Amino acid sequence: MTDIHAHADTAPDSNDESVAEPAALLSGKDFWSTREGTGIRSMVLTDGPHGVRRQGGEADHLGLNQSLPATCFPPGAGIASSWDPALMREVGNALGREARALGVDVLLGPAINIKRSPLGGRTFEYLSEDPRLTGALAVEYVRGVQSAGVGTSVKHFAVNNQETDRMRTSAEVDARTLREIYLPAFERVVKEASPTSVMSAYNAINGVFSSENRWLLTELLREEWGFDGLVVSDWGAIKDRAEALAAGLDLEMPGTGDAGTEAILQAVRDGRLDRSVVLASVERLRTLAERTAPIADADMAALDLDAHHALARRAAAASIVLLRNENETLPLRAGQRVAVLGELAVAPQYQGGGSSHVSPTRVDLPLDELRVALGDEHVVYAAGYSRAGADDSEGLRAEARATAASADVAVVFVGLYEEDQSEGFDREHLDLPVAHVALIEAVAEVASRTVVVLSNGGVVTLEPWHDKVDAIVEGWALGQAVGSALADVLTGAANPAGHLAETIPLALADTPAFLNFPGEQEVVRYGEGVFVGYRYYTSVDRAVRYPFGHGLSYTTFGVDAFEVEAEGADAAIVRVTVRNTGERAGSDVVQLYVAPAPSAVRRPARELGAFAKVTLEPGESATVSLALERRAFAHWDVRAARWRVDPGTYRVELGRSANEIVAVRELPLAGDVERPAVLSLESTVKEWFGHAIVGPVLTQSMMDNATPEQQAAAEANANALKMVESMPMGQFARFPGVEIPEEALEQLIALSVSAAAPAAAGSVA
Ligand code: BGC
Repeated sequence: MTDIHAHADTAPDSNDESVAEPAALLSGKDFWSTREGTGIRSMVLTDGPHGVRRQGGEADHLGLNQSLPATCFPPGAGIASSWDPALMREVGNALGREARALGVDVLLGPAINIKRSPLGGRTFEYLSEDPRLTGALAVEYVRGVQSAGVGTSVKHFAVNNQETDRMRTSAEVDARTLREIYLPAFERVVKEASPTSVMSAYNAINGVFSSENRWLLTELLREEWGFDGLVVSDWGAIKDRAEALAAGLDLEMPGTGDAGTEAILQAVRDGRLDRSVVLASVERLRTLAERTAPIADADMAALDLDAHHALARRAAAASIVLLRNENETLPLRAGQRVAVLGELAVAPQYQGGGSSHVSPTRVDLPLDELRVALGDEHVVYAAGYSRAGADDSEGLRAEARATAASADVAVVFVGLYEEDQSEGFDREHLDLPVAHVALIEAVAEVASRTVVVLSNGGVVTLEPWHDKVDAIVEGWALGQAVGSALADVLTGAANPAGHLAETIPLALADTPAFLNFPGEQEVVRYGEGVFVGYRYYTSVDRAVRYPFGHGLSYTTFGVDAFEVEAEGADAAIVRVTVRNTGERAGSDVVQLYVAPAPSAVRRPARELGAFAKVTLEPGESATVSLALERRAFAHWDVRAARWRVDPGTYRVELGRSANEIVAVRELPLAGDVERPAVLSLESTVKEWFGHAIVGPVLTQSMMDNATPEQQAAAEANANALKMVESMPMGQFARFPGVEIPEEALEQLIALSVSAAAPAAAGSVA
């Protein structure tokens, strides 16, 4: 490493010298660690999110150099389907402990960008299409990891919803969509879990790169949300080091030798950057070092990795979503002859490609685990297809078909490979590999019962074979316990309780971002606005294959009671009594959706307002209380630049999914107290006549001044006013026949000013 003090020679300014050592700390020492100095120790930052990717030797991005073994927990797409924040916290804590044991100070996760399009290359890492579900899980991830004395880095801040051209593209998003969809999960984690760091994204937002975006990194993150941690760049995201620092980006990773430091010092010399900015960032680095305990006890062998594997298995089982189960095809029954088909049963896919790739401590294979669970003699296997090549697939398929025909039930393992879903590129379609679809169809023709088990980090289409099979198990990306977790669910040792955290559409063309994703010429327009995922499908009544929130169980649940009570003007408390009406213990997710009161802005038909997971023995019931906080009713008012709860009647909907609402309660809310608007000549005729104070005065004076003929005509033609209602008053007032004198308008404007003055603004949150 070059001695940065050498630069003092070329720039003899004493300020420069005093800032040189601190400035050097703001660029990494190498790929994964920070520099040591001014009493701050060197720290190691490592991926994340679902396992620790600690590289022993040369660091690289492509996973060419294997990382040290660590437990591979279910990636985001899997664990989000658990809808279980408590489980997320347990996993977080185990991740934190492994990170410490591997000498890691900061684990680079959680990854919480919203799944805007199912084509997004990193949807396997991200959690959900819904910001509330994402935020609730991310909060517990951070708490879990940090409870082990290890830091987190919430990424990728912000609006990093695609891989295509990710280092150049500008996400063009309106303010309301940012606030309601792409920012709330970050906001919630920052406010509720105090993450030690936030990682800025590669992309630009409305023309300004995230890493150089002062509004994003300072005004919003620090000043508005109160973030007091460190902002680190995504690896190689910085284009202009001084700009980035000025915008609020503290630490550049990986290190760039002395280039970053020199750029900072030059900016200080030129007076473009104040020394205090450099020093403030160094203090944040110091805080990071203080918040993460120094690691003196790095020893993976001291950890109970069996216990972590058992947790990975439980988490994976909780992540599995039973999509379809006709005639109780599942669980498999003892004594049944089961044909296990598909090479993925012996070479499973359980994570995606890229920087999150973990070298597992071990991997449970589905075929082995099914043999253990059902007895060797009841299980037969055929590969059905080969990853290596399509040439022999016809033969393999014929063999699998014969195997299926001889069994009571055929379980077909299909899915996507790592080369299909990875960081760095987006998918171009939602299809399974051709040989996998061919296998499903061939087997379904001959098998008495066909079960399809999917392993796919991103959504795949279930067409055209969906109706031909009896059961579908969505296995997402399940981590290293993939095989045992799938066996647990298939055999009923675990009762499936996962629910979709993202919609499975019927066709790619149905997806809300279809026409805009992934953009062109370095720009991606978020034209669908807030109508992302189920917010779109439910608002336009578009049929989907499986809605957000869907998930079956081997037991059944009923609702005994559902009460909704307003809490003040803009929140509510909800009590739901759920009963397990079936024969097996199981878990259900209480999903509360809020349908908006009439609003001046177009709002989604329903939005997830709260949820809770409840586990019940057969016949048992439990009452859960859920808070619908102000935000569950609010929208972002662009003009006022604040959250607003419209007064009016909302509907609180209890859903088994975003499409299956089983009970509804009306909830009138006073909402935000509005000050009457201040009128101007640019305000429209409608706004003038609709004004609570001015409107009646204006109507009266117009009627008083009108001739009897004009009065009769106005009464006879109610549409007359409607026709001109969008005209600015200044223009309308000059119309022949209208002619409202200027002084009269001025008096009325003054009246609107005094009406607005005394009332307090509605609460802002
Ligand atoms: C990814 C980050 C990751 C970093 C370090 C980047 O390419 O976007 O998610 O943490 O590399 O590997």
